[in-house]
Amino acid sequence: MNNKDNKQLNIPKHIAIILDGNGRWAKKRAMPRTYGHQVGTENIRKVAVAASDLGVKALSVYAFSTENWKRPNEEVEFLMKLPGEFEKKFKGEFEKYDIKVMFSGRKTHLSKENLEILERITEKSKDRKGLVLNICFDYGSQIEIAEAVKKVTQDVLDSKLKKEDIEPKHIEQYLYTKDLPKLDLLIRPSGEVRLSNFLLWQAAYSELYFCKTYWPAFSKKELIKAIKEYNRRDRRYGGLKKK
Ligand code: IPE
Ligand code: IPE
Ligand code: MG
Repeated sequence: MNNKDNKQLNIPKHIAIILDGNGRWAKKRAMPRTYGHQVGTENIRKVAVAASDLGVKALSVYAFSTENWKRPNEEVEFLMKLPGEFEKKFKGEFEKYDIKVMFSGRKTHLSKENLEILERITEKSKDRKGLVLNICFDYGSQIEIAEAVKKVTQDVLDSKLKKEDIEPKHIEQYLYTKDLPKLDLLIRPSGEVRLSNFLLWQAAYSELYFCKTYWPAFSKKELIKAIKEYNRRDRRYGGLKKK
């Protein structure tokens, strides 16, 4: 596939990926699950650069869910080192590609050290104009929506909004993704066919793509395959088929 072929594609503005299958990928290689997380983390960098190259505006990646704390301590501790890895290893490349990094997720359960890292990465890249890489870390869609509802309720209590005037846009303005384009394509590698509490609101009219590849092996080629499939979809939004 050369770039000329890709130029004819309608590139989704916002793609989201559930980074799943790290553990199974490692197990297949008789390696510990943490090795899968290490290679999976490295793959975020590669796929973000590929998405930037293809002209995607925003890429949301699900790296740690609000439910992943249930895993054994040793694995959680390893996953909590990921922000530090992003800072150390991705810095140069993200600068080179003008990639702006943001984080979506709860800020109440992360260590002070991790919060500082997230803050530093966000602050350093905030004025960049390229791809927005939205790293969803301690992210859960139901909590995101519940928090937005709390804020809308506060606006009603403060008389900034009347209860009978509440519309979807009032919820949306309080979601982490408020400044990103609408979610066009949601990809889940690894063979699981579920959303696992990822972007439930945002995916209302997104196209869904599931593939068997485990995340550490998910490549630019696979991303292009998903985009090609997206190009074959007829997005009707409840209307009728385009003539
Ligand atoms: C995804 O890979 C990474 C996280 C959920 C943090 P998994 O760790 O879920 O890998 P599998 O699904 O067990 O193979
Ligand atoms: C979803 O994967 C969460 C992330 C990839 C961060 P999981 O592996 O946690 O999801 P389930 O348990 O298969 O639904
Ligand atoms: Mg999994």
